[in-house]
Amino acid sequence: MTKVTAQMSVSLDGYYAGPQHTGDGDWIRSAEAAGFFRVTRWVTDAMAWRERQGFAGGEANQDSEIVAESFAAAGAYVMGRRMADGGEVPWGEEPPFRAPVFVVTHRPREVLHRGGGTSFTYVTDGIAAAVERARGAAGGKDVAVAGGGALVRQVLEAGLLDQLELHVVPVVLGSGMRLLADGLDVGERSGIELTPTRVVHTPRVTHLRYTVDGRAPLVLDDRGRGA
Ligand SMILES: NC(=O)c1ccc[n+]([C@@H]2O[C@H](COP(=O)([O-])OP(=O)(O)OC[C@H]3O[C@@H](n4cnc5c(N)ncnc54)[C@H](OP(=O)(O)O)[C@@H]3O)[C@@H](O)[C@H]2O)c1
Repeated sequence: MTKVTAQMSVSLDGYYAGPQHTGDGDWIRSAEAAGFFRVTRWVTDAMAWRERQGFAGGEANQDSEIVAESFAAAGAYVMGRRMADGGEVPWGEEPPFRAPVFVVTHRPREVLHRGGGTSFTYVTDGIAAAVERARGAAGGKDVAVAGGGALVRQVLEAGLLDQLELHVVPVVLGSGMRLLADGLDVGERSGIELTPTRVVHTPRVTHLRYTVDGRAPLVLDDRGRGA
């Protein structure tokens, strides 16, 4: 059965990229990119990712197996417009997805067809619509919400996510774009509960997988009253 999954690499202090790049300069030279490259270095060094990108070399290790597993599980992707824009050039003519990608945006654009089975369809009627279109295109495999954080956060908030995977990298960035940031619309007296279903620990990353159970009220306990 199709699950809606998301995975993000984050620093120990919860950042998925450095401080947001807003100026005119090159994104690739920005502090946002520097933070992003640090937390995803384990991916770009993994043989499974390099093979998908047509790059030689890479490390054949447990991290690489996890990258391969993620690609194999996804039948379609949902992506935020900033991530899609940032990847458009570096992913090249044969992006690593090899599946339909639905880009959530307010800016209409023609479908972009790439080699190897990847297409980018720009969806302007919201995240739920994008997830539904991806579900229809996933052929029974999973819908992977590929990022960035703004999108993953909303999918979690909206109760559309079945599984969240965090790849926690042992670095402290101190500032940047935080995944589970202040302002997440959960409600003051409720939380989003998750059940951990897998932990894989490697020298470079701790891979945490959770099933998302959903919102639940926070109850005041009666500690100290004694029975
Ligand atoms: N650490 C990781 O694992 C990881 C993974 C992926 C990406 N990243 C990094 O994350 C950063 C990008 O993430 P981000 O959080 O800034 O942006 P994002 O989620 O990629 O994209 C945000 C954009 O998506 C569109 N959007 C979001 N919600 C929408 C909605 N409800 N309705 C319509 N459009 C909506 C808007 O585009 P419009 O402005 O066009 O309306 C918005 O500006 C990059 O630095 C990237 O490298 C990190």
